[in-house]
Amino acid sequence: MKINYQETTNDLLTRIDIHNKYGGRDIDAWMLEVLALQPGMNILDVACGGGKQCVSFYKDLRGNCTITGGDVNEELLRQARLENEKLGKPFTIMPLNFDERFPFDDNTFDLVSCCFAIYYSSNIPFTIREMHRVLKPGSRLFTTGPMPDNKKVFYDIIRKATGKEIPPMPGSSRYGSEILSAIENAFAHTEVKIFENPLTFKQSAPFMAYTRASLSEDRKLWTSLFDSHESFEHTIQSIHQVSDEYIREHGELVMTKVVGGFIGTK
Ligand SMILES: C[S@@+](CC[C@H](N)C(=O)[O-])C[C@H]1O[C@@H](n2cnc3c(N)ncnc32)[C@H](O)[C@@H]1O
Repeated sequence: MKINYQETTNDLLTRIDIHNKYGGRDIDAWMLEVLALQPGMNILDVACGGGKQCVSFYKDLRGNCTITGGDVNEELLRQARLENEKLGKPFTIMPLNFDERFPFDDNTFDLVSCCFAIYYSSNIPFTIREMHRVLKPGSRLFTTGPMPDNKKVFYDIIRKATGKEIPPMPGSSRYGSEILSAIENAFAHTEVKIFENPLTFKQSAPFMAYTRASLSEDRKLWTSLFDSHESFEHTIQSIHQVSDEYIREHGELVMTKVVGGFIGTK
């Protein structure tokens, strides 16, 4: 099934920035702790976006590694290339569509990562088989994505404000189920790690900036809630009112990200 989805650099960087400012924990520090990378590794970051994980891996290994980042979105690849330039161009940043055969030989990489993206695959078993194919025997796939309890308050507020059901999200609807099963089927051994990060908002402005960058018309994920720019703005206003009420009542709004880190060993 093809998912009609589009990420913009602006929306992605806005959400990352809000996680950094209002979250109590650092997901990249958790990822590095869970992975315990070894010097000299050959790493492929699939759906690298603006290059966030490539940079984390590189810094963690103090440059002693080979990193390839691939994504289907040219705008985000440009952002990843900017990050690459800042570091003196240690990475290979390239177009890569995970719905198609990866342009790498079998048994090439020591780690394949894919953060907050695998659920946009049109054919999950195919994409996971490709990740498995390019990994060396005994090496690992690492994916992240939302678990069912992710951002419960966020969805509750939107439901209350709109009186509508939340459209099925490609991530939370199938990451902990269909995608985990596909990894378990393909890999010799699979581990599940959970990362929880409470984002605390004392005012609704940053929560609303997060909401805009999530519901964004550009992403095409939420269009069942609005059918024009005007109705989008109207939806945002209603959410703003409900979040103001929530903060008045509770003193703050705590939205907890619940992320699953799945590690498949070949
Ligand atoms: C939420 S972003 C995550 C980016 C990055 N991994 C991060 O965590 O900052 C999702 C990414 O999946 C990418 N993506 C979506 N469909 C893809 C496909 N078919 N092949 C490769 N990447 C894809 C998007 O372009 C976007 O960069």
